Amino acid sequence: MNIFKRTFSSLALLGFGLAMTQNLTAAETSSVAATDGKEMAARHYAPTKEELAKPNSDIKIQSVNESFAKQYPLQYKSWKATENSTEVAPAVEADPRMIVLWGGYAFAKEYNKPRGHFYAVTDVRNILRTGAPMDANSGPQPMACWSCKGTDVPRLIAEWGEEGYFSGKWAKGGAEVVNSIGCADCHDTASQDFAAGKPALRIARPHVLRALEAIDKEFDGLDRTDKRAAICANCHVEYYFDKNVANNVVFPWYKGVDVDSIEKYYDELEFKDWEHSISKAPMLKAQHPDYEIWMQGTHGKNGVTCIDCHMPKVQDASGKVYTDHQIGNPFDQFESTCAKCHDQSKETLQKVVADHKKDIKDVMLKLEDQLVKAHFEAKAAWDAGATKEEMQDALQAIRHAQWRWDYSAAGHGSHMHAPDITLKIIASGLDRVADARQKLAVILTKRGVQQPIAYPDISTAEQAWKVMGIDIEKERKAKAEFLNTVIPQWNKEAKEKGLILNDIPPAK
Ligand code: HEC
Ligand code: HEC
Ligand code: HEC
Ligand code: HEC
Repeated sequence: MNIFKRTFSSLALLGFGLAMTQNLTAAETSSVAATDGKEMAARHYAPTKEELAKPNSDIKIQSVNESFAKQYPLQYKSWKATENSTEVAPAVEADPRMIVLWGGYAFAKEYNKPRGHFYAVTDVRNILRTGAPMDANSGPQPMACWSCKGTDVPRLIAEWGEEGYFSGKWAKGGAEVVNSIGCADCHDTASQDFAAGKPALRIARPHVLRALEAIDKEFDGLDRTDKRAAICANCHVEYYFDKNVANNVVFPWYKGVDVDSIEKYYDELEFKDWEHSISKAPMLKAQHPDYEIWMQGTHGKNGVTCIDCHMPKVQDASGKVYTDHQIGNPFDQFESTCAKCHDQSKETLQKVVADHKKDIKDVMLKLEDQLVKAHFEAKAAWDAGATKEEMQDALQAIRHAQWRWDYSAAGHGSHMHAPDITLKIIASGLDRVADARQKLAVILTKRGVQQPIAYPDISTAEQAWKVMGIDIEKERKAKAEFLNTVIPQWNKEAKEKGLILNDIPPAK
C-alpha cells in the first residue's frame, strides 16, 4: 500500500515552525484532527493527474478589467494607476555575477525588477526568457509561465480544465492571456457581494487553493485578515512546474514554507530546475517567495498583511472611503500605511528600511562572490578528470547554498518584510558555500590543480555572457522579430474574440 508521509501543523494555534509528524496510510482520511479537536482539512502531497480540476462551465470569469470601470470608478482608476510604475530595471546587467549563477538557465539572459501590475502581460511577452516562438508548438517555455499574469488564466482553467490549460507550449496561450492582473484575479466578480460593493475576495486558481490547504489555510475557512494576505499568495510565492503530472504549477509547501523545509521537500523529490552549465550542479531556482518571507517576519506574525501596507483604505475628495488599488511602494502613502500603527516619522522609518536593505545587499554580494568561485572551481575539477562520485557532495552543497541565496534575493522587498530572517538565510548560504569550496579544494589538490584557479573576467554583462557561452545579440534579434510579427497576430486574434477592448501596451 502507498504510504504518504504526512506532516500537520496548526499555524494558527501553535505559531510558526511547530509541527508534528506522523505516518498515515493513503486510505486514511485526508483531514486530520488538530490539537484543539477541530477538524482541519490538510493535504500533504502534490496533486496527481486525476486530482487536477476538470473544465467547469459553472465558473464564469469576466477577464476584461475595463468592464468594471463604470461600476467601480474609484477602484478601477486606482487599479489602472499601476500603469504609472513604468521603470524596467535590468538586474543581470547591474550585477553580472547572476549570469554565472544562472548558467544554462534562461534567467541568465534577462531578469528585471518588478513593475506595475498593468504590465504583467507586456513584460512576459518582451522578456528574452520566453524566447521567440514562431508558432503555437515551439519555444522554450510551457503554458505554466502565464499563470501569474492575469485574469484570463482562471478563465482558461475554468474553460479547459487544469490539464488542458497547463499542457503545451507558452505560445499556445498567446492570443488568450491578454488581460493583465486585475479584478477577477482577486474578486468573485459574479457574486452578489461584489455587486453590493463588498470585496468578495476569491482565489480562482485551483493550484493556489491546494497550496493553502497544505499549510492549514484553507481559503474558505480563513478570517478576513488571512484572506487578504492569501490573495497576494496567488502569485507572490515560490513554485515549481510538476513535469511528472501536466507541467502544472505546484507550491512546494508540503513540509513548510521556510527555506529549510522547501529545500528538504525538493531534495526528497530529487527535483531540479536545471543542471548548471559549467559546474553541473543540480540547481534550484527560487521565485519571489514574498508571501512565505512575510509570514516569517514581524509584521506577518502580528497579523499586519500586505493589504495594510500596499492597499490602504483612502478617501476621495467627497470623503468616500475605498481601497486604494495602486499597489506600489507603501512609503508613497505613508499616512494611510505605516503611520496608522507607528509613531516614528516617515524619514526615520525610511532610513531603517534603507539601512536593512544596504546591510542585506552587502552580505548577499559576498555570498554571490563565493558562489561564482565555487561554480568555476567545480568546472576546473571536472576538467581535471574528477568523477561523478567525487563531485556529488560538493555539487549538493552548491545547490543548497545557491538556493539560500536565491530565496533571499528573489523575494522582492525581503529587506522590509523580514530583514532578520533574510540575513539568517544568507548566513546559512555562506556556511554551505564554504562547505562546497572546501570539498572542491580537496578534489582539486588531489588532481594536482594549482590553486587559486584562474577565474574568468565577468566584470561586465557582455564579458559574463561570453564566458557562459550566451550569444545575447542572437537572442535579442530573434525576440525583435517575434515582437514584430507574432505579437500583432496575437493581438488581432484576441480582439476578434472580444477578449480585449484596448491594445496591450507594446514594448518598454
Ligand atoms: C491584487 C488583488 C486585487 C485586484 C487586482 C483588484 N482588487 Fe479590488 N480589492 C482587493 C482587496 C485586497 C480589497 C480590500 C479587501 C478588504 O477590505 O478586506 C479590495 C476591495 C475592493 C472593493 C470593495 C470596496 C473597497 O474599495 O474596499 C471593490 C468594489 C473592488 N475591490 C473592486 C475592484 C475592481 C473593479 C478591480 C479591477 C479594476 C479590482 N478591485 C482589482 C484586491 C484586489
Ligand atoms: C495574478 C498574479 C498576481 C497577484 C494576484 C498579485 N501580484 Fe503583485 N505582481 C505580479 C507580477 C507578475 C508582478 C510584476 C509585473 C511586471 O513587472 O510586469 C507584480 C508586481 C508587484 C509589485 C511591484 C509593483 C511596482 O510598481 O514595482 C508589488 C508591490 C506587488 N506586485 C504587490 C502585490 C500585492 C500586495 C498583492 C496582493 C494584494 C499582489 N501583488 C497580487 C503578480 C501578482
Ligand atoms: C509592514 C508593511 C508591509 C507589509 C505587511 C508588506 N509589505 Fe511589501 N513592501 C513594503 C515596503 C515599504 C516595500 C518597499 C521597500 C523599500 O522601499 O525598499 C515593499 C516592497 C514590496 C515588493 C517589491 C516592490 C518592488 O518594486 O521591488 C513587493 C513585490 C511586495 N512588497 C509585496 C508584498 C506582499 C505580497 C506582501 C504580503 C505577503 C507584502 N508585500 C507585505 C511594505 C510592506
Ligand atoms: C497595522 C499596523 C502596522 C502597519 C500598517 C505597519 N506596521 Fe510596522 N510594526 C507593526 C507591529 C505590530 C510591529 C511589531 C512591534 C513589536 O513587536 O514591538 C511592527 C514592527 C515594525 C518594525 C520593527 C521590526 C522589523 O521587522 O524590522 C519596523 C522597522 C516597522 N514595523 C516598519 C514599518 C513600516 C516601514 C511600515 C509601513 C510601510 C509599517 N511598519 C507598517 C505594525 C504595523
